[in-house]
Amino acid sequence: MKITYYGHSCFSLLVSGKNILFDPFIRGNELARDIDINNIEADYILVSHGHDDHTADLVYLASRTNAKIVCNWEIMLWLHTQGIKNVHPMNVGGKVAFDFGIVKMTIASHSSSMADGTYAGIAAGFLVQTENKLLYYSGDTGLNQDMKLIGEMYKPDIALLPIGDNFTMDAGDAAIAAGFVNCKHVIGLHYDSFGYIQINKKEAEKKFENAGIKLTLLNIGEEIAI
Ligand code: NI
Ligand code: MN
Repeated sequence: MKITYYGHSCFSLLVSGKNILFDPFIRGNELARDIDINNIEADYILVSHGHDDHTADLVYLASRTNAKIVCNWEIMLWLHTQGIKNVHPMNVGGKVAFDFGIVKMTIASHSSSMADGTYAGIAAGFLVQTENKLLYYSGDTGLNQDMKLIGEMYKPDIALLPIGDNFTMDAGDAAIAAGFVNCKHVIGLHYDSFGYIQINKKEAEKKFENAGIKLTLLNIGEEIAI
């Protein structure tokens, strides 16, 4: 599995020849100015919640790529009003087998609405089981006890967690979350993109080091093989 980071919480998986894009927010991210959105391929786009820093480029990319959007019911209804019809709706606790693997929608402690104020259901995360790797993307969330259930039932090979504080967990809480979900390798997301979530990366790395968990902070545009 190859992971490509597009900044903030936007990343892509390449697995079984399919591109699975998460939470597209590129053109509005000053830090991602070197990414050309028209070079991004997507067979699927997974959407954790409605906030603009996760969906700003969703309609544009859905139209350009005709990717299948995987999101909750309420975001599907909103997408229909935008003319986007290739959508698979799901909700927390449900799982679906796609041609690249099995996607389960997990709980997140966060809010959710579209930029125009439309109700966007509850915020979520995803477990993605591919042929040989299990990935957990928590979405925007605070630390919560439900993560322990993921650790009891699964053992993700890689966890993508927010570390930017203010709207989500900080690095210290994310290191605890990694312990809860029983994962030893975290890719940090949702930091530095705007004023409220600027972090000290050295301090973040230290917190993970102290917890005995590997933290990877990818450069925007960087790829990593898992
Ligand atoms: Ni959010
Ligand atoms: Mn966010």
